Amino acid sequence: MEAILLASANPHKIEELWQILEPFGIELKSTHDFPGGKDVEENQPGLEGNALKKARYWNQFTGLPALADDTGLEVDALDGAPGVYSARYAGKDATYEQNVAKLLRDLDGIKKRTARFRTVIAFVDGENENLFEGICEGEIIHKPKGENGFGYDPVFRPAGYKKTFAELSPEVKNRISHRGRALFKFLEFLKG
Ligand code: IMP
Repeated sequence: MEAILLASANPHKIEELWQILEPFGIELKSTHDFPGGKDVEENQPGLEGNALKKARYWNQFTGLPALADDTGLEVDALDGAPGVYSARYAGKDATYEQNVAKLLRDLDGIKKRTARFRTVIAFVDGENENLFEGICEGEIIHKPKGENGFGYDPVFRPAGYKKTFAELSPEVKNRISHRGRALFKFLEFLKG
């Protein structure tokens, strides 16, 4: 199969996608290999729509099969928020730290802290469009812990683990994470 374009400008995501896909001998290109491409606005009402929008744009722009992911953190006590708004929970252009701080403020005094990361991966090759979902259940702890990963990783402890995603090694996170699970479904699809 020809190369796959990873339709993301987020270096943390690219790193994770790369780590999982590279051992399978898939040639990967990044958006940086195609200067002139635009930042696709994530303005769809759901993760599926945003992932598809990004993958369609980059497939058309590069002519390569394109893979895009959109991820949301769904917190039960907040009725599923921040969800599709996870990147801008504390406002447009909010930093990871500001988003985490707002999340911890909103959960102040709340005992039920269950949450899940949900990733939708869209793969668009010009003829077909396919979606793959990955979910990782867990809970939001009270204070950030750990230095690895990105985003909400320091406050998300996956179910069955004593450490946050930011304390776990990248290998362990990739094996159990929302993004890893969605990607393993994608790899099964490629094999088929
Ligand atoms: P995006 O819209 O898919 O880029 O992701 C939305 C936001 O969710 C990001 O800005 C991060 O804050 C957060 N996020 C996405 N993936 C992860 C992850 O694997 N760990 C922690 N936070 C994540």
